[in-house]
Amino acid sequence: MTTALCPGSFDPPTNGHVDVIRRCLSIFNHVVLAVVANPSKQALFDSNERTAMLEELFKDEADRIEIKAFSGLLVDFARDRRVDVIVKGLRAVSDFEYELQMAQMNESLSGINTLFLPTNPEYGYLSSSLVKEVVRLGGSADTMVPPLVVTALKERYA
Ligand code: PNS
Repeated sequence: MTTALCPGSFDPPTNGHVDVIRRCLSIFNHVVLAVVANPSKQALFDSNERTAMLEELFKDEADRIEIKAFSGLLVDFARDRRVDVIVKGLRAVSDFEYELQMAQMNESLSGINTLFLPTNPEYGYLSSSLVKEVVRLGGSADTMVPPLVVTALKERYA
């Protein structure tokens, strides 16, 4: 059985995240979503809220997907869960430099490789930060995030 690890802040999950995770589920037997408990930027949703959103979004695949909050080094979490590979979505060249650096650091710390999945171009412009800004300033994110996330964002910024 091959287990892939998809790490992220997921603050909140976007349609881009959902697309990458769904494609991971079509490639790997088992997928672990690692929700960073303390992201580098101040989070809008706490790790329990972000984990609960992902659980609801992937409730139909609950037998093949495991969703866990983590703190500390990603590679320690990855080793504990015995994952085979880390998977990251890449939107644009601007993502590449930082993602490459993290992938190489993680490999040198643990020997665990990272695979990059190109984001569906439909979602190439999406980021959690921009989605939050759009909703905070009164715009609609209906085409950018799943309906349950739209509701959560509206409630948070009400
Ligand atoms: O969704 P994001 O914010 O791009 O996710 C970044 C994340 C959570 C994958 C990255 O910040 C991370 O791995 N954090 C855990 C701490 C760690 O292992 N740092 C060293 C990375 S080389």
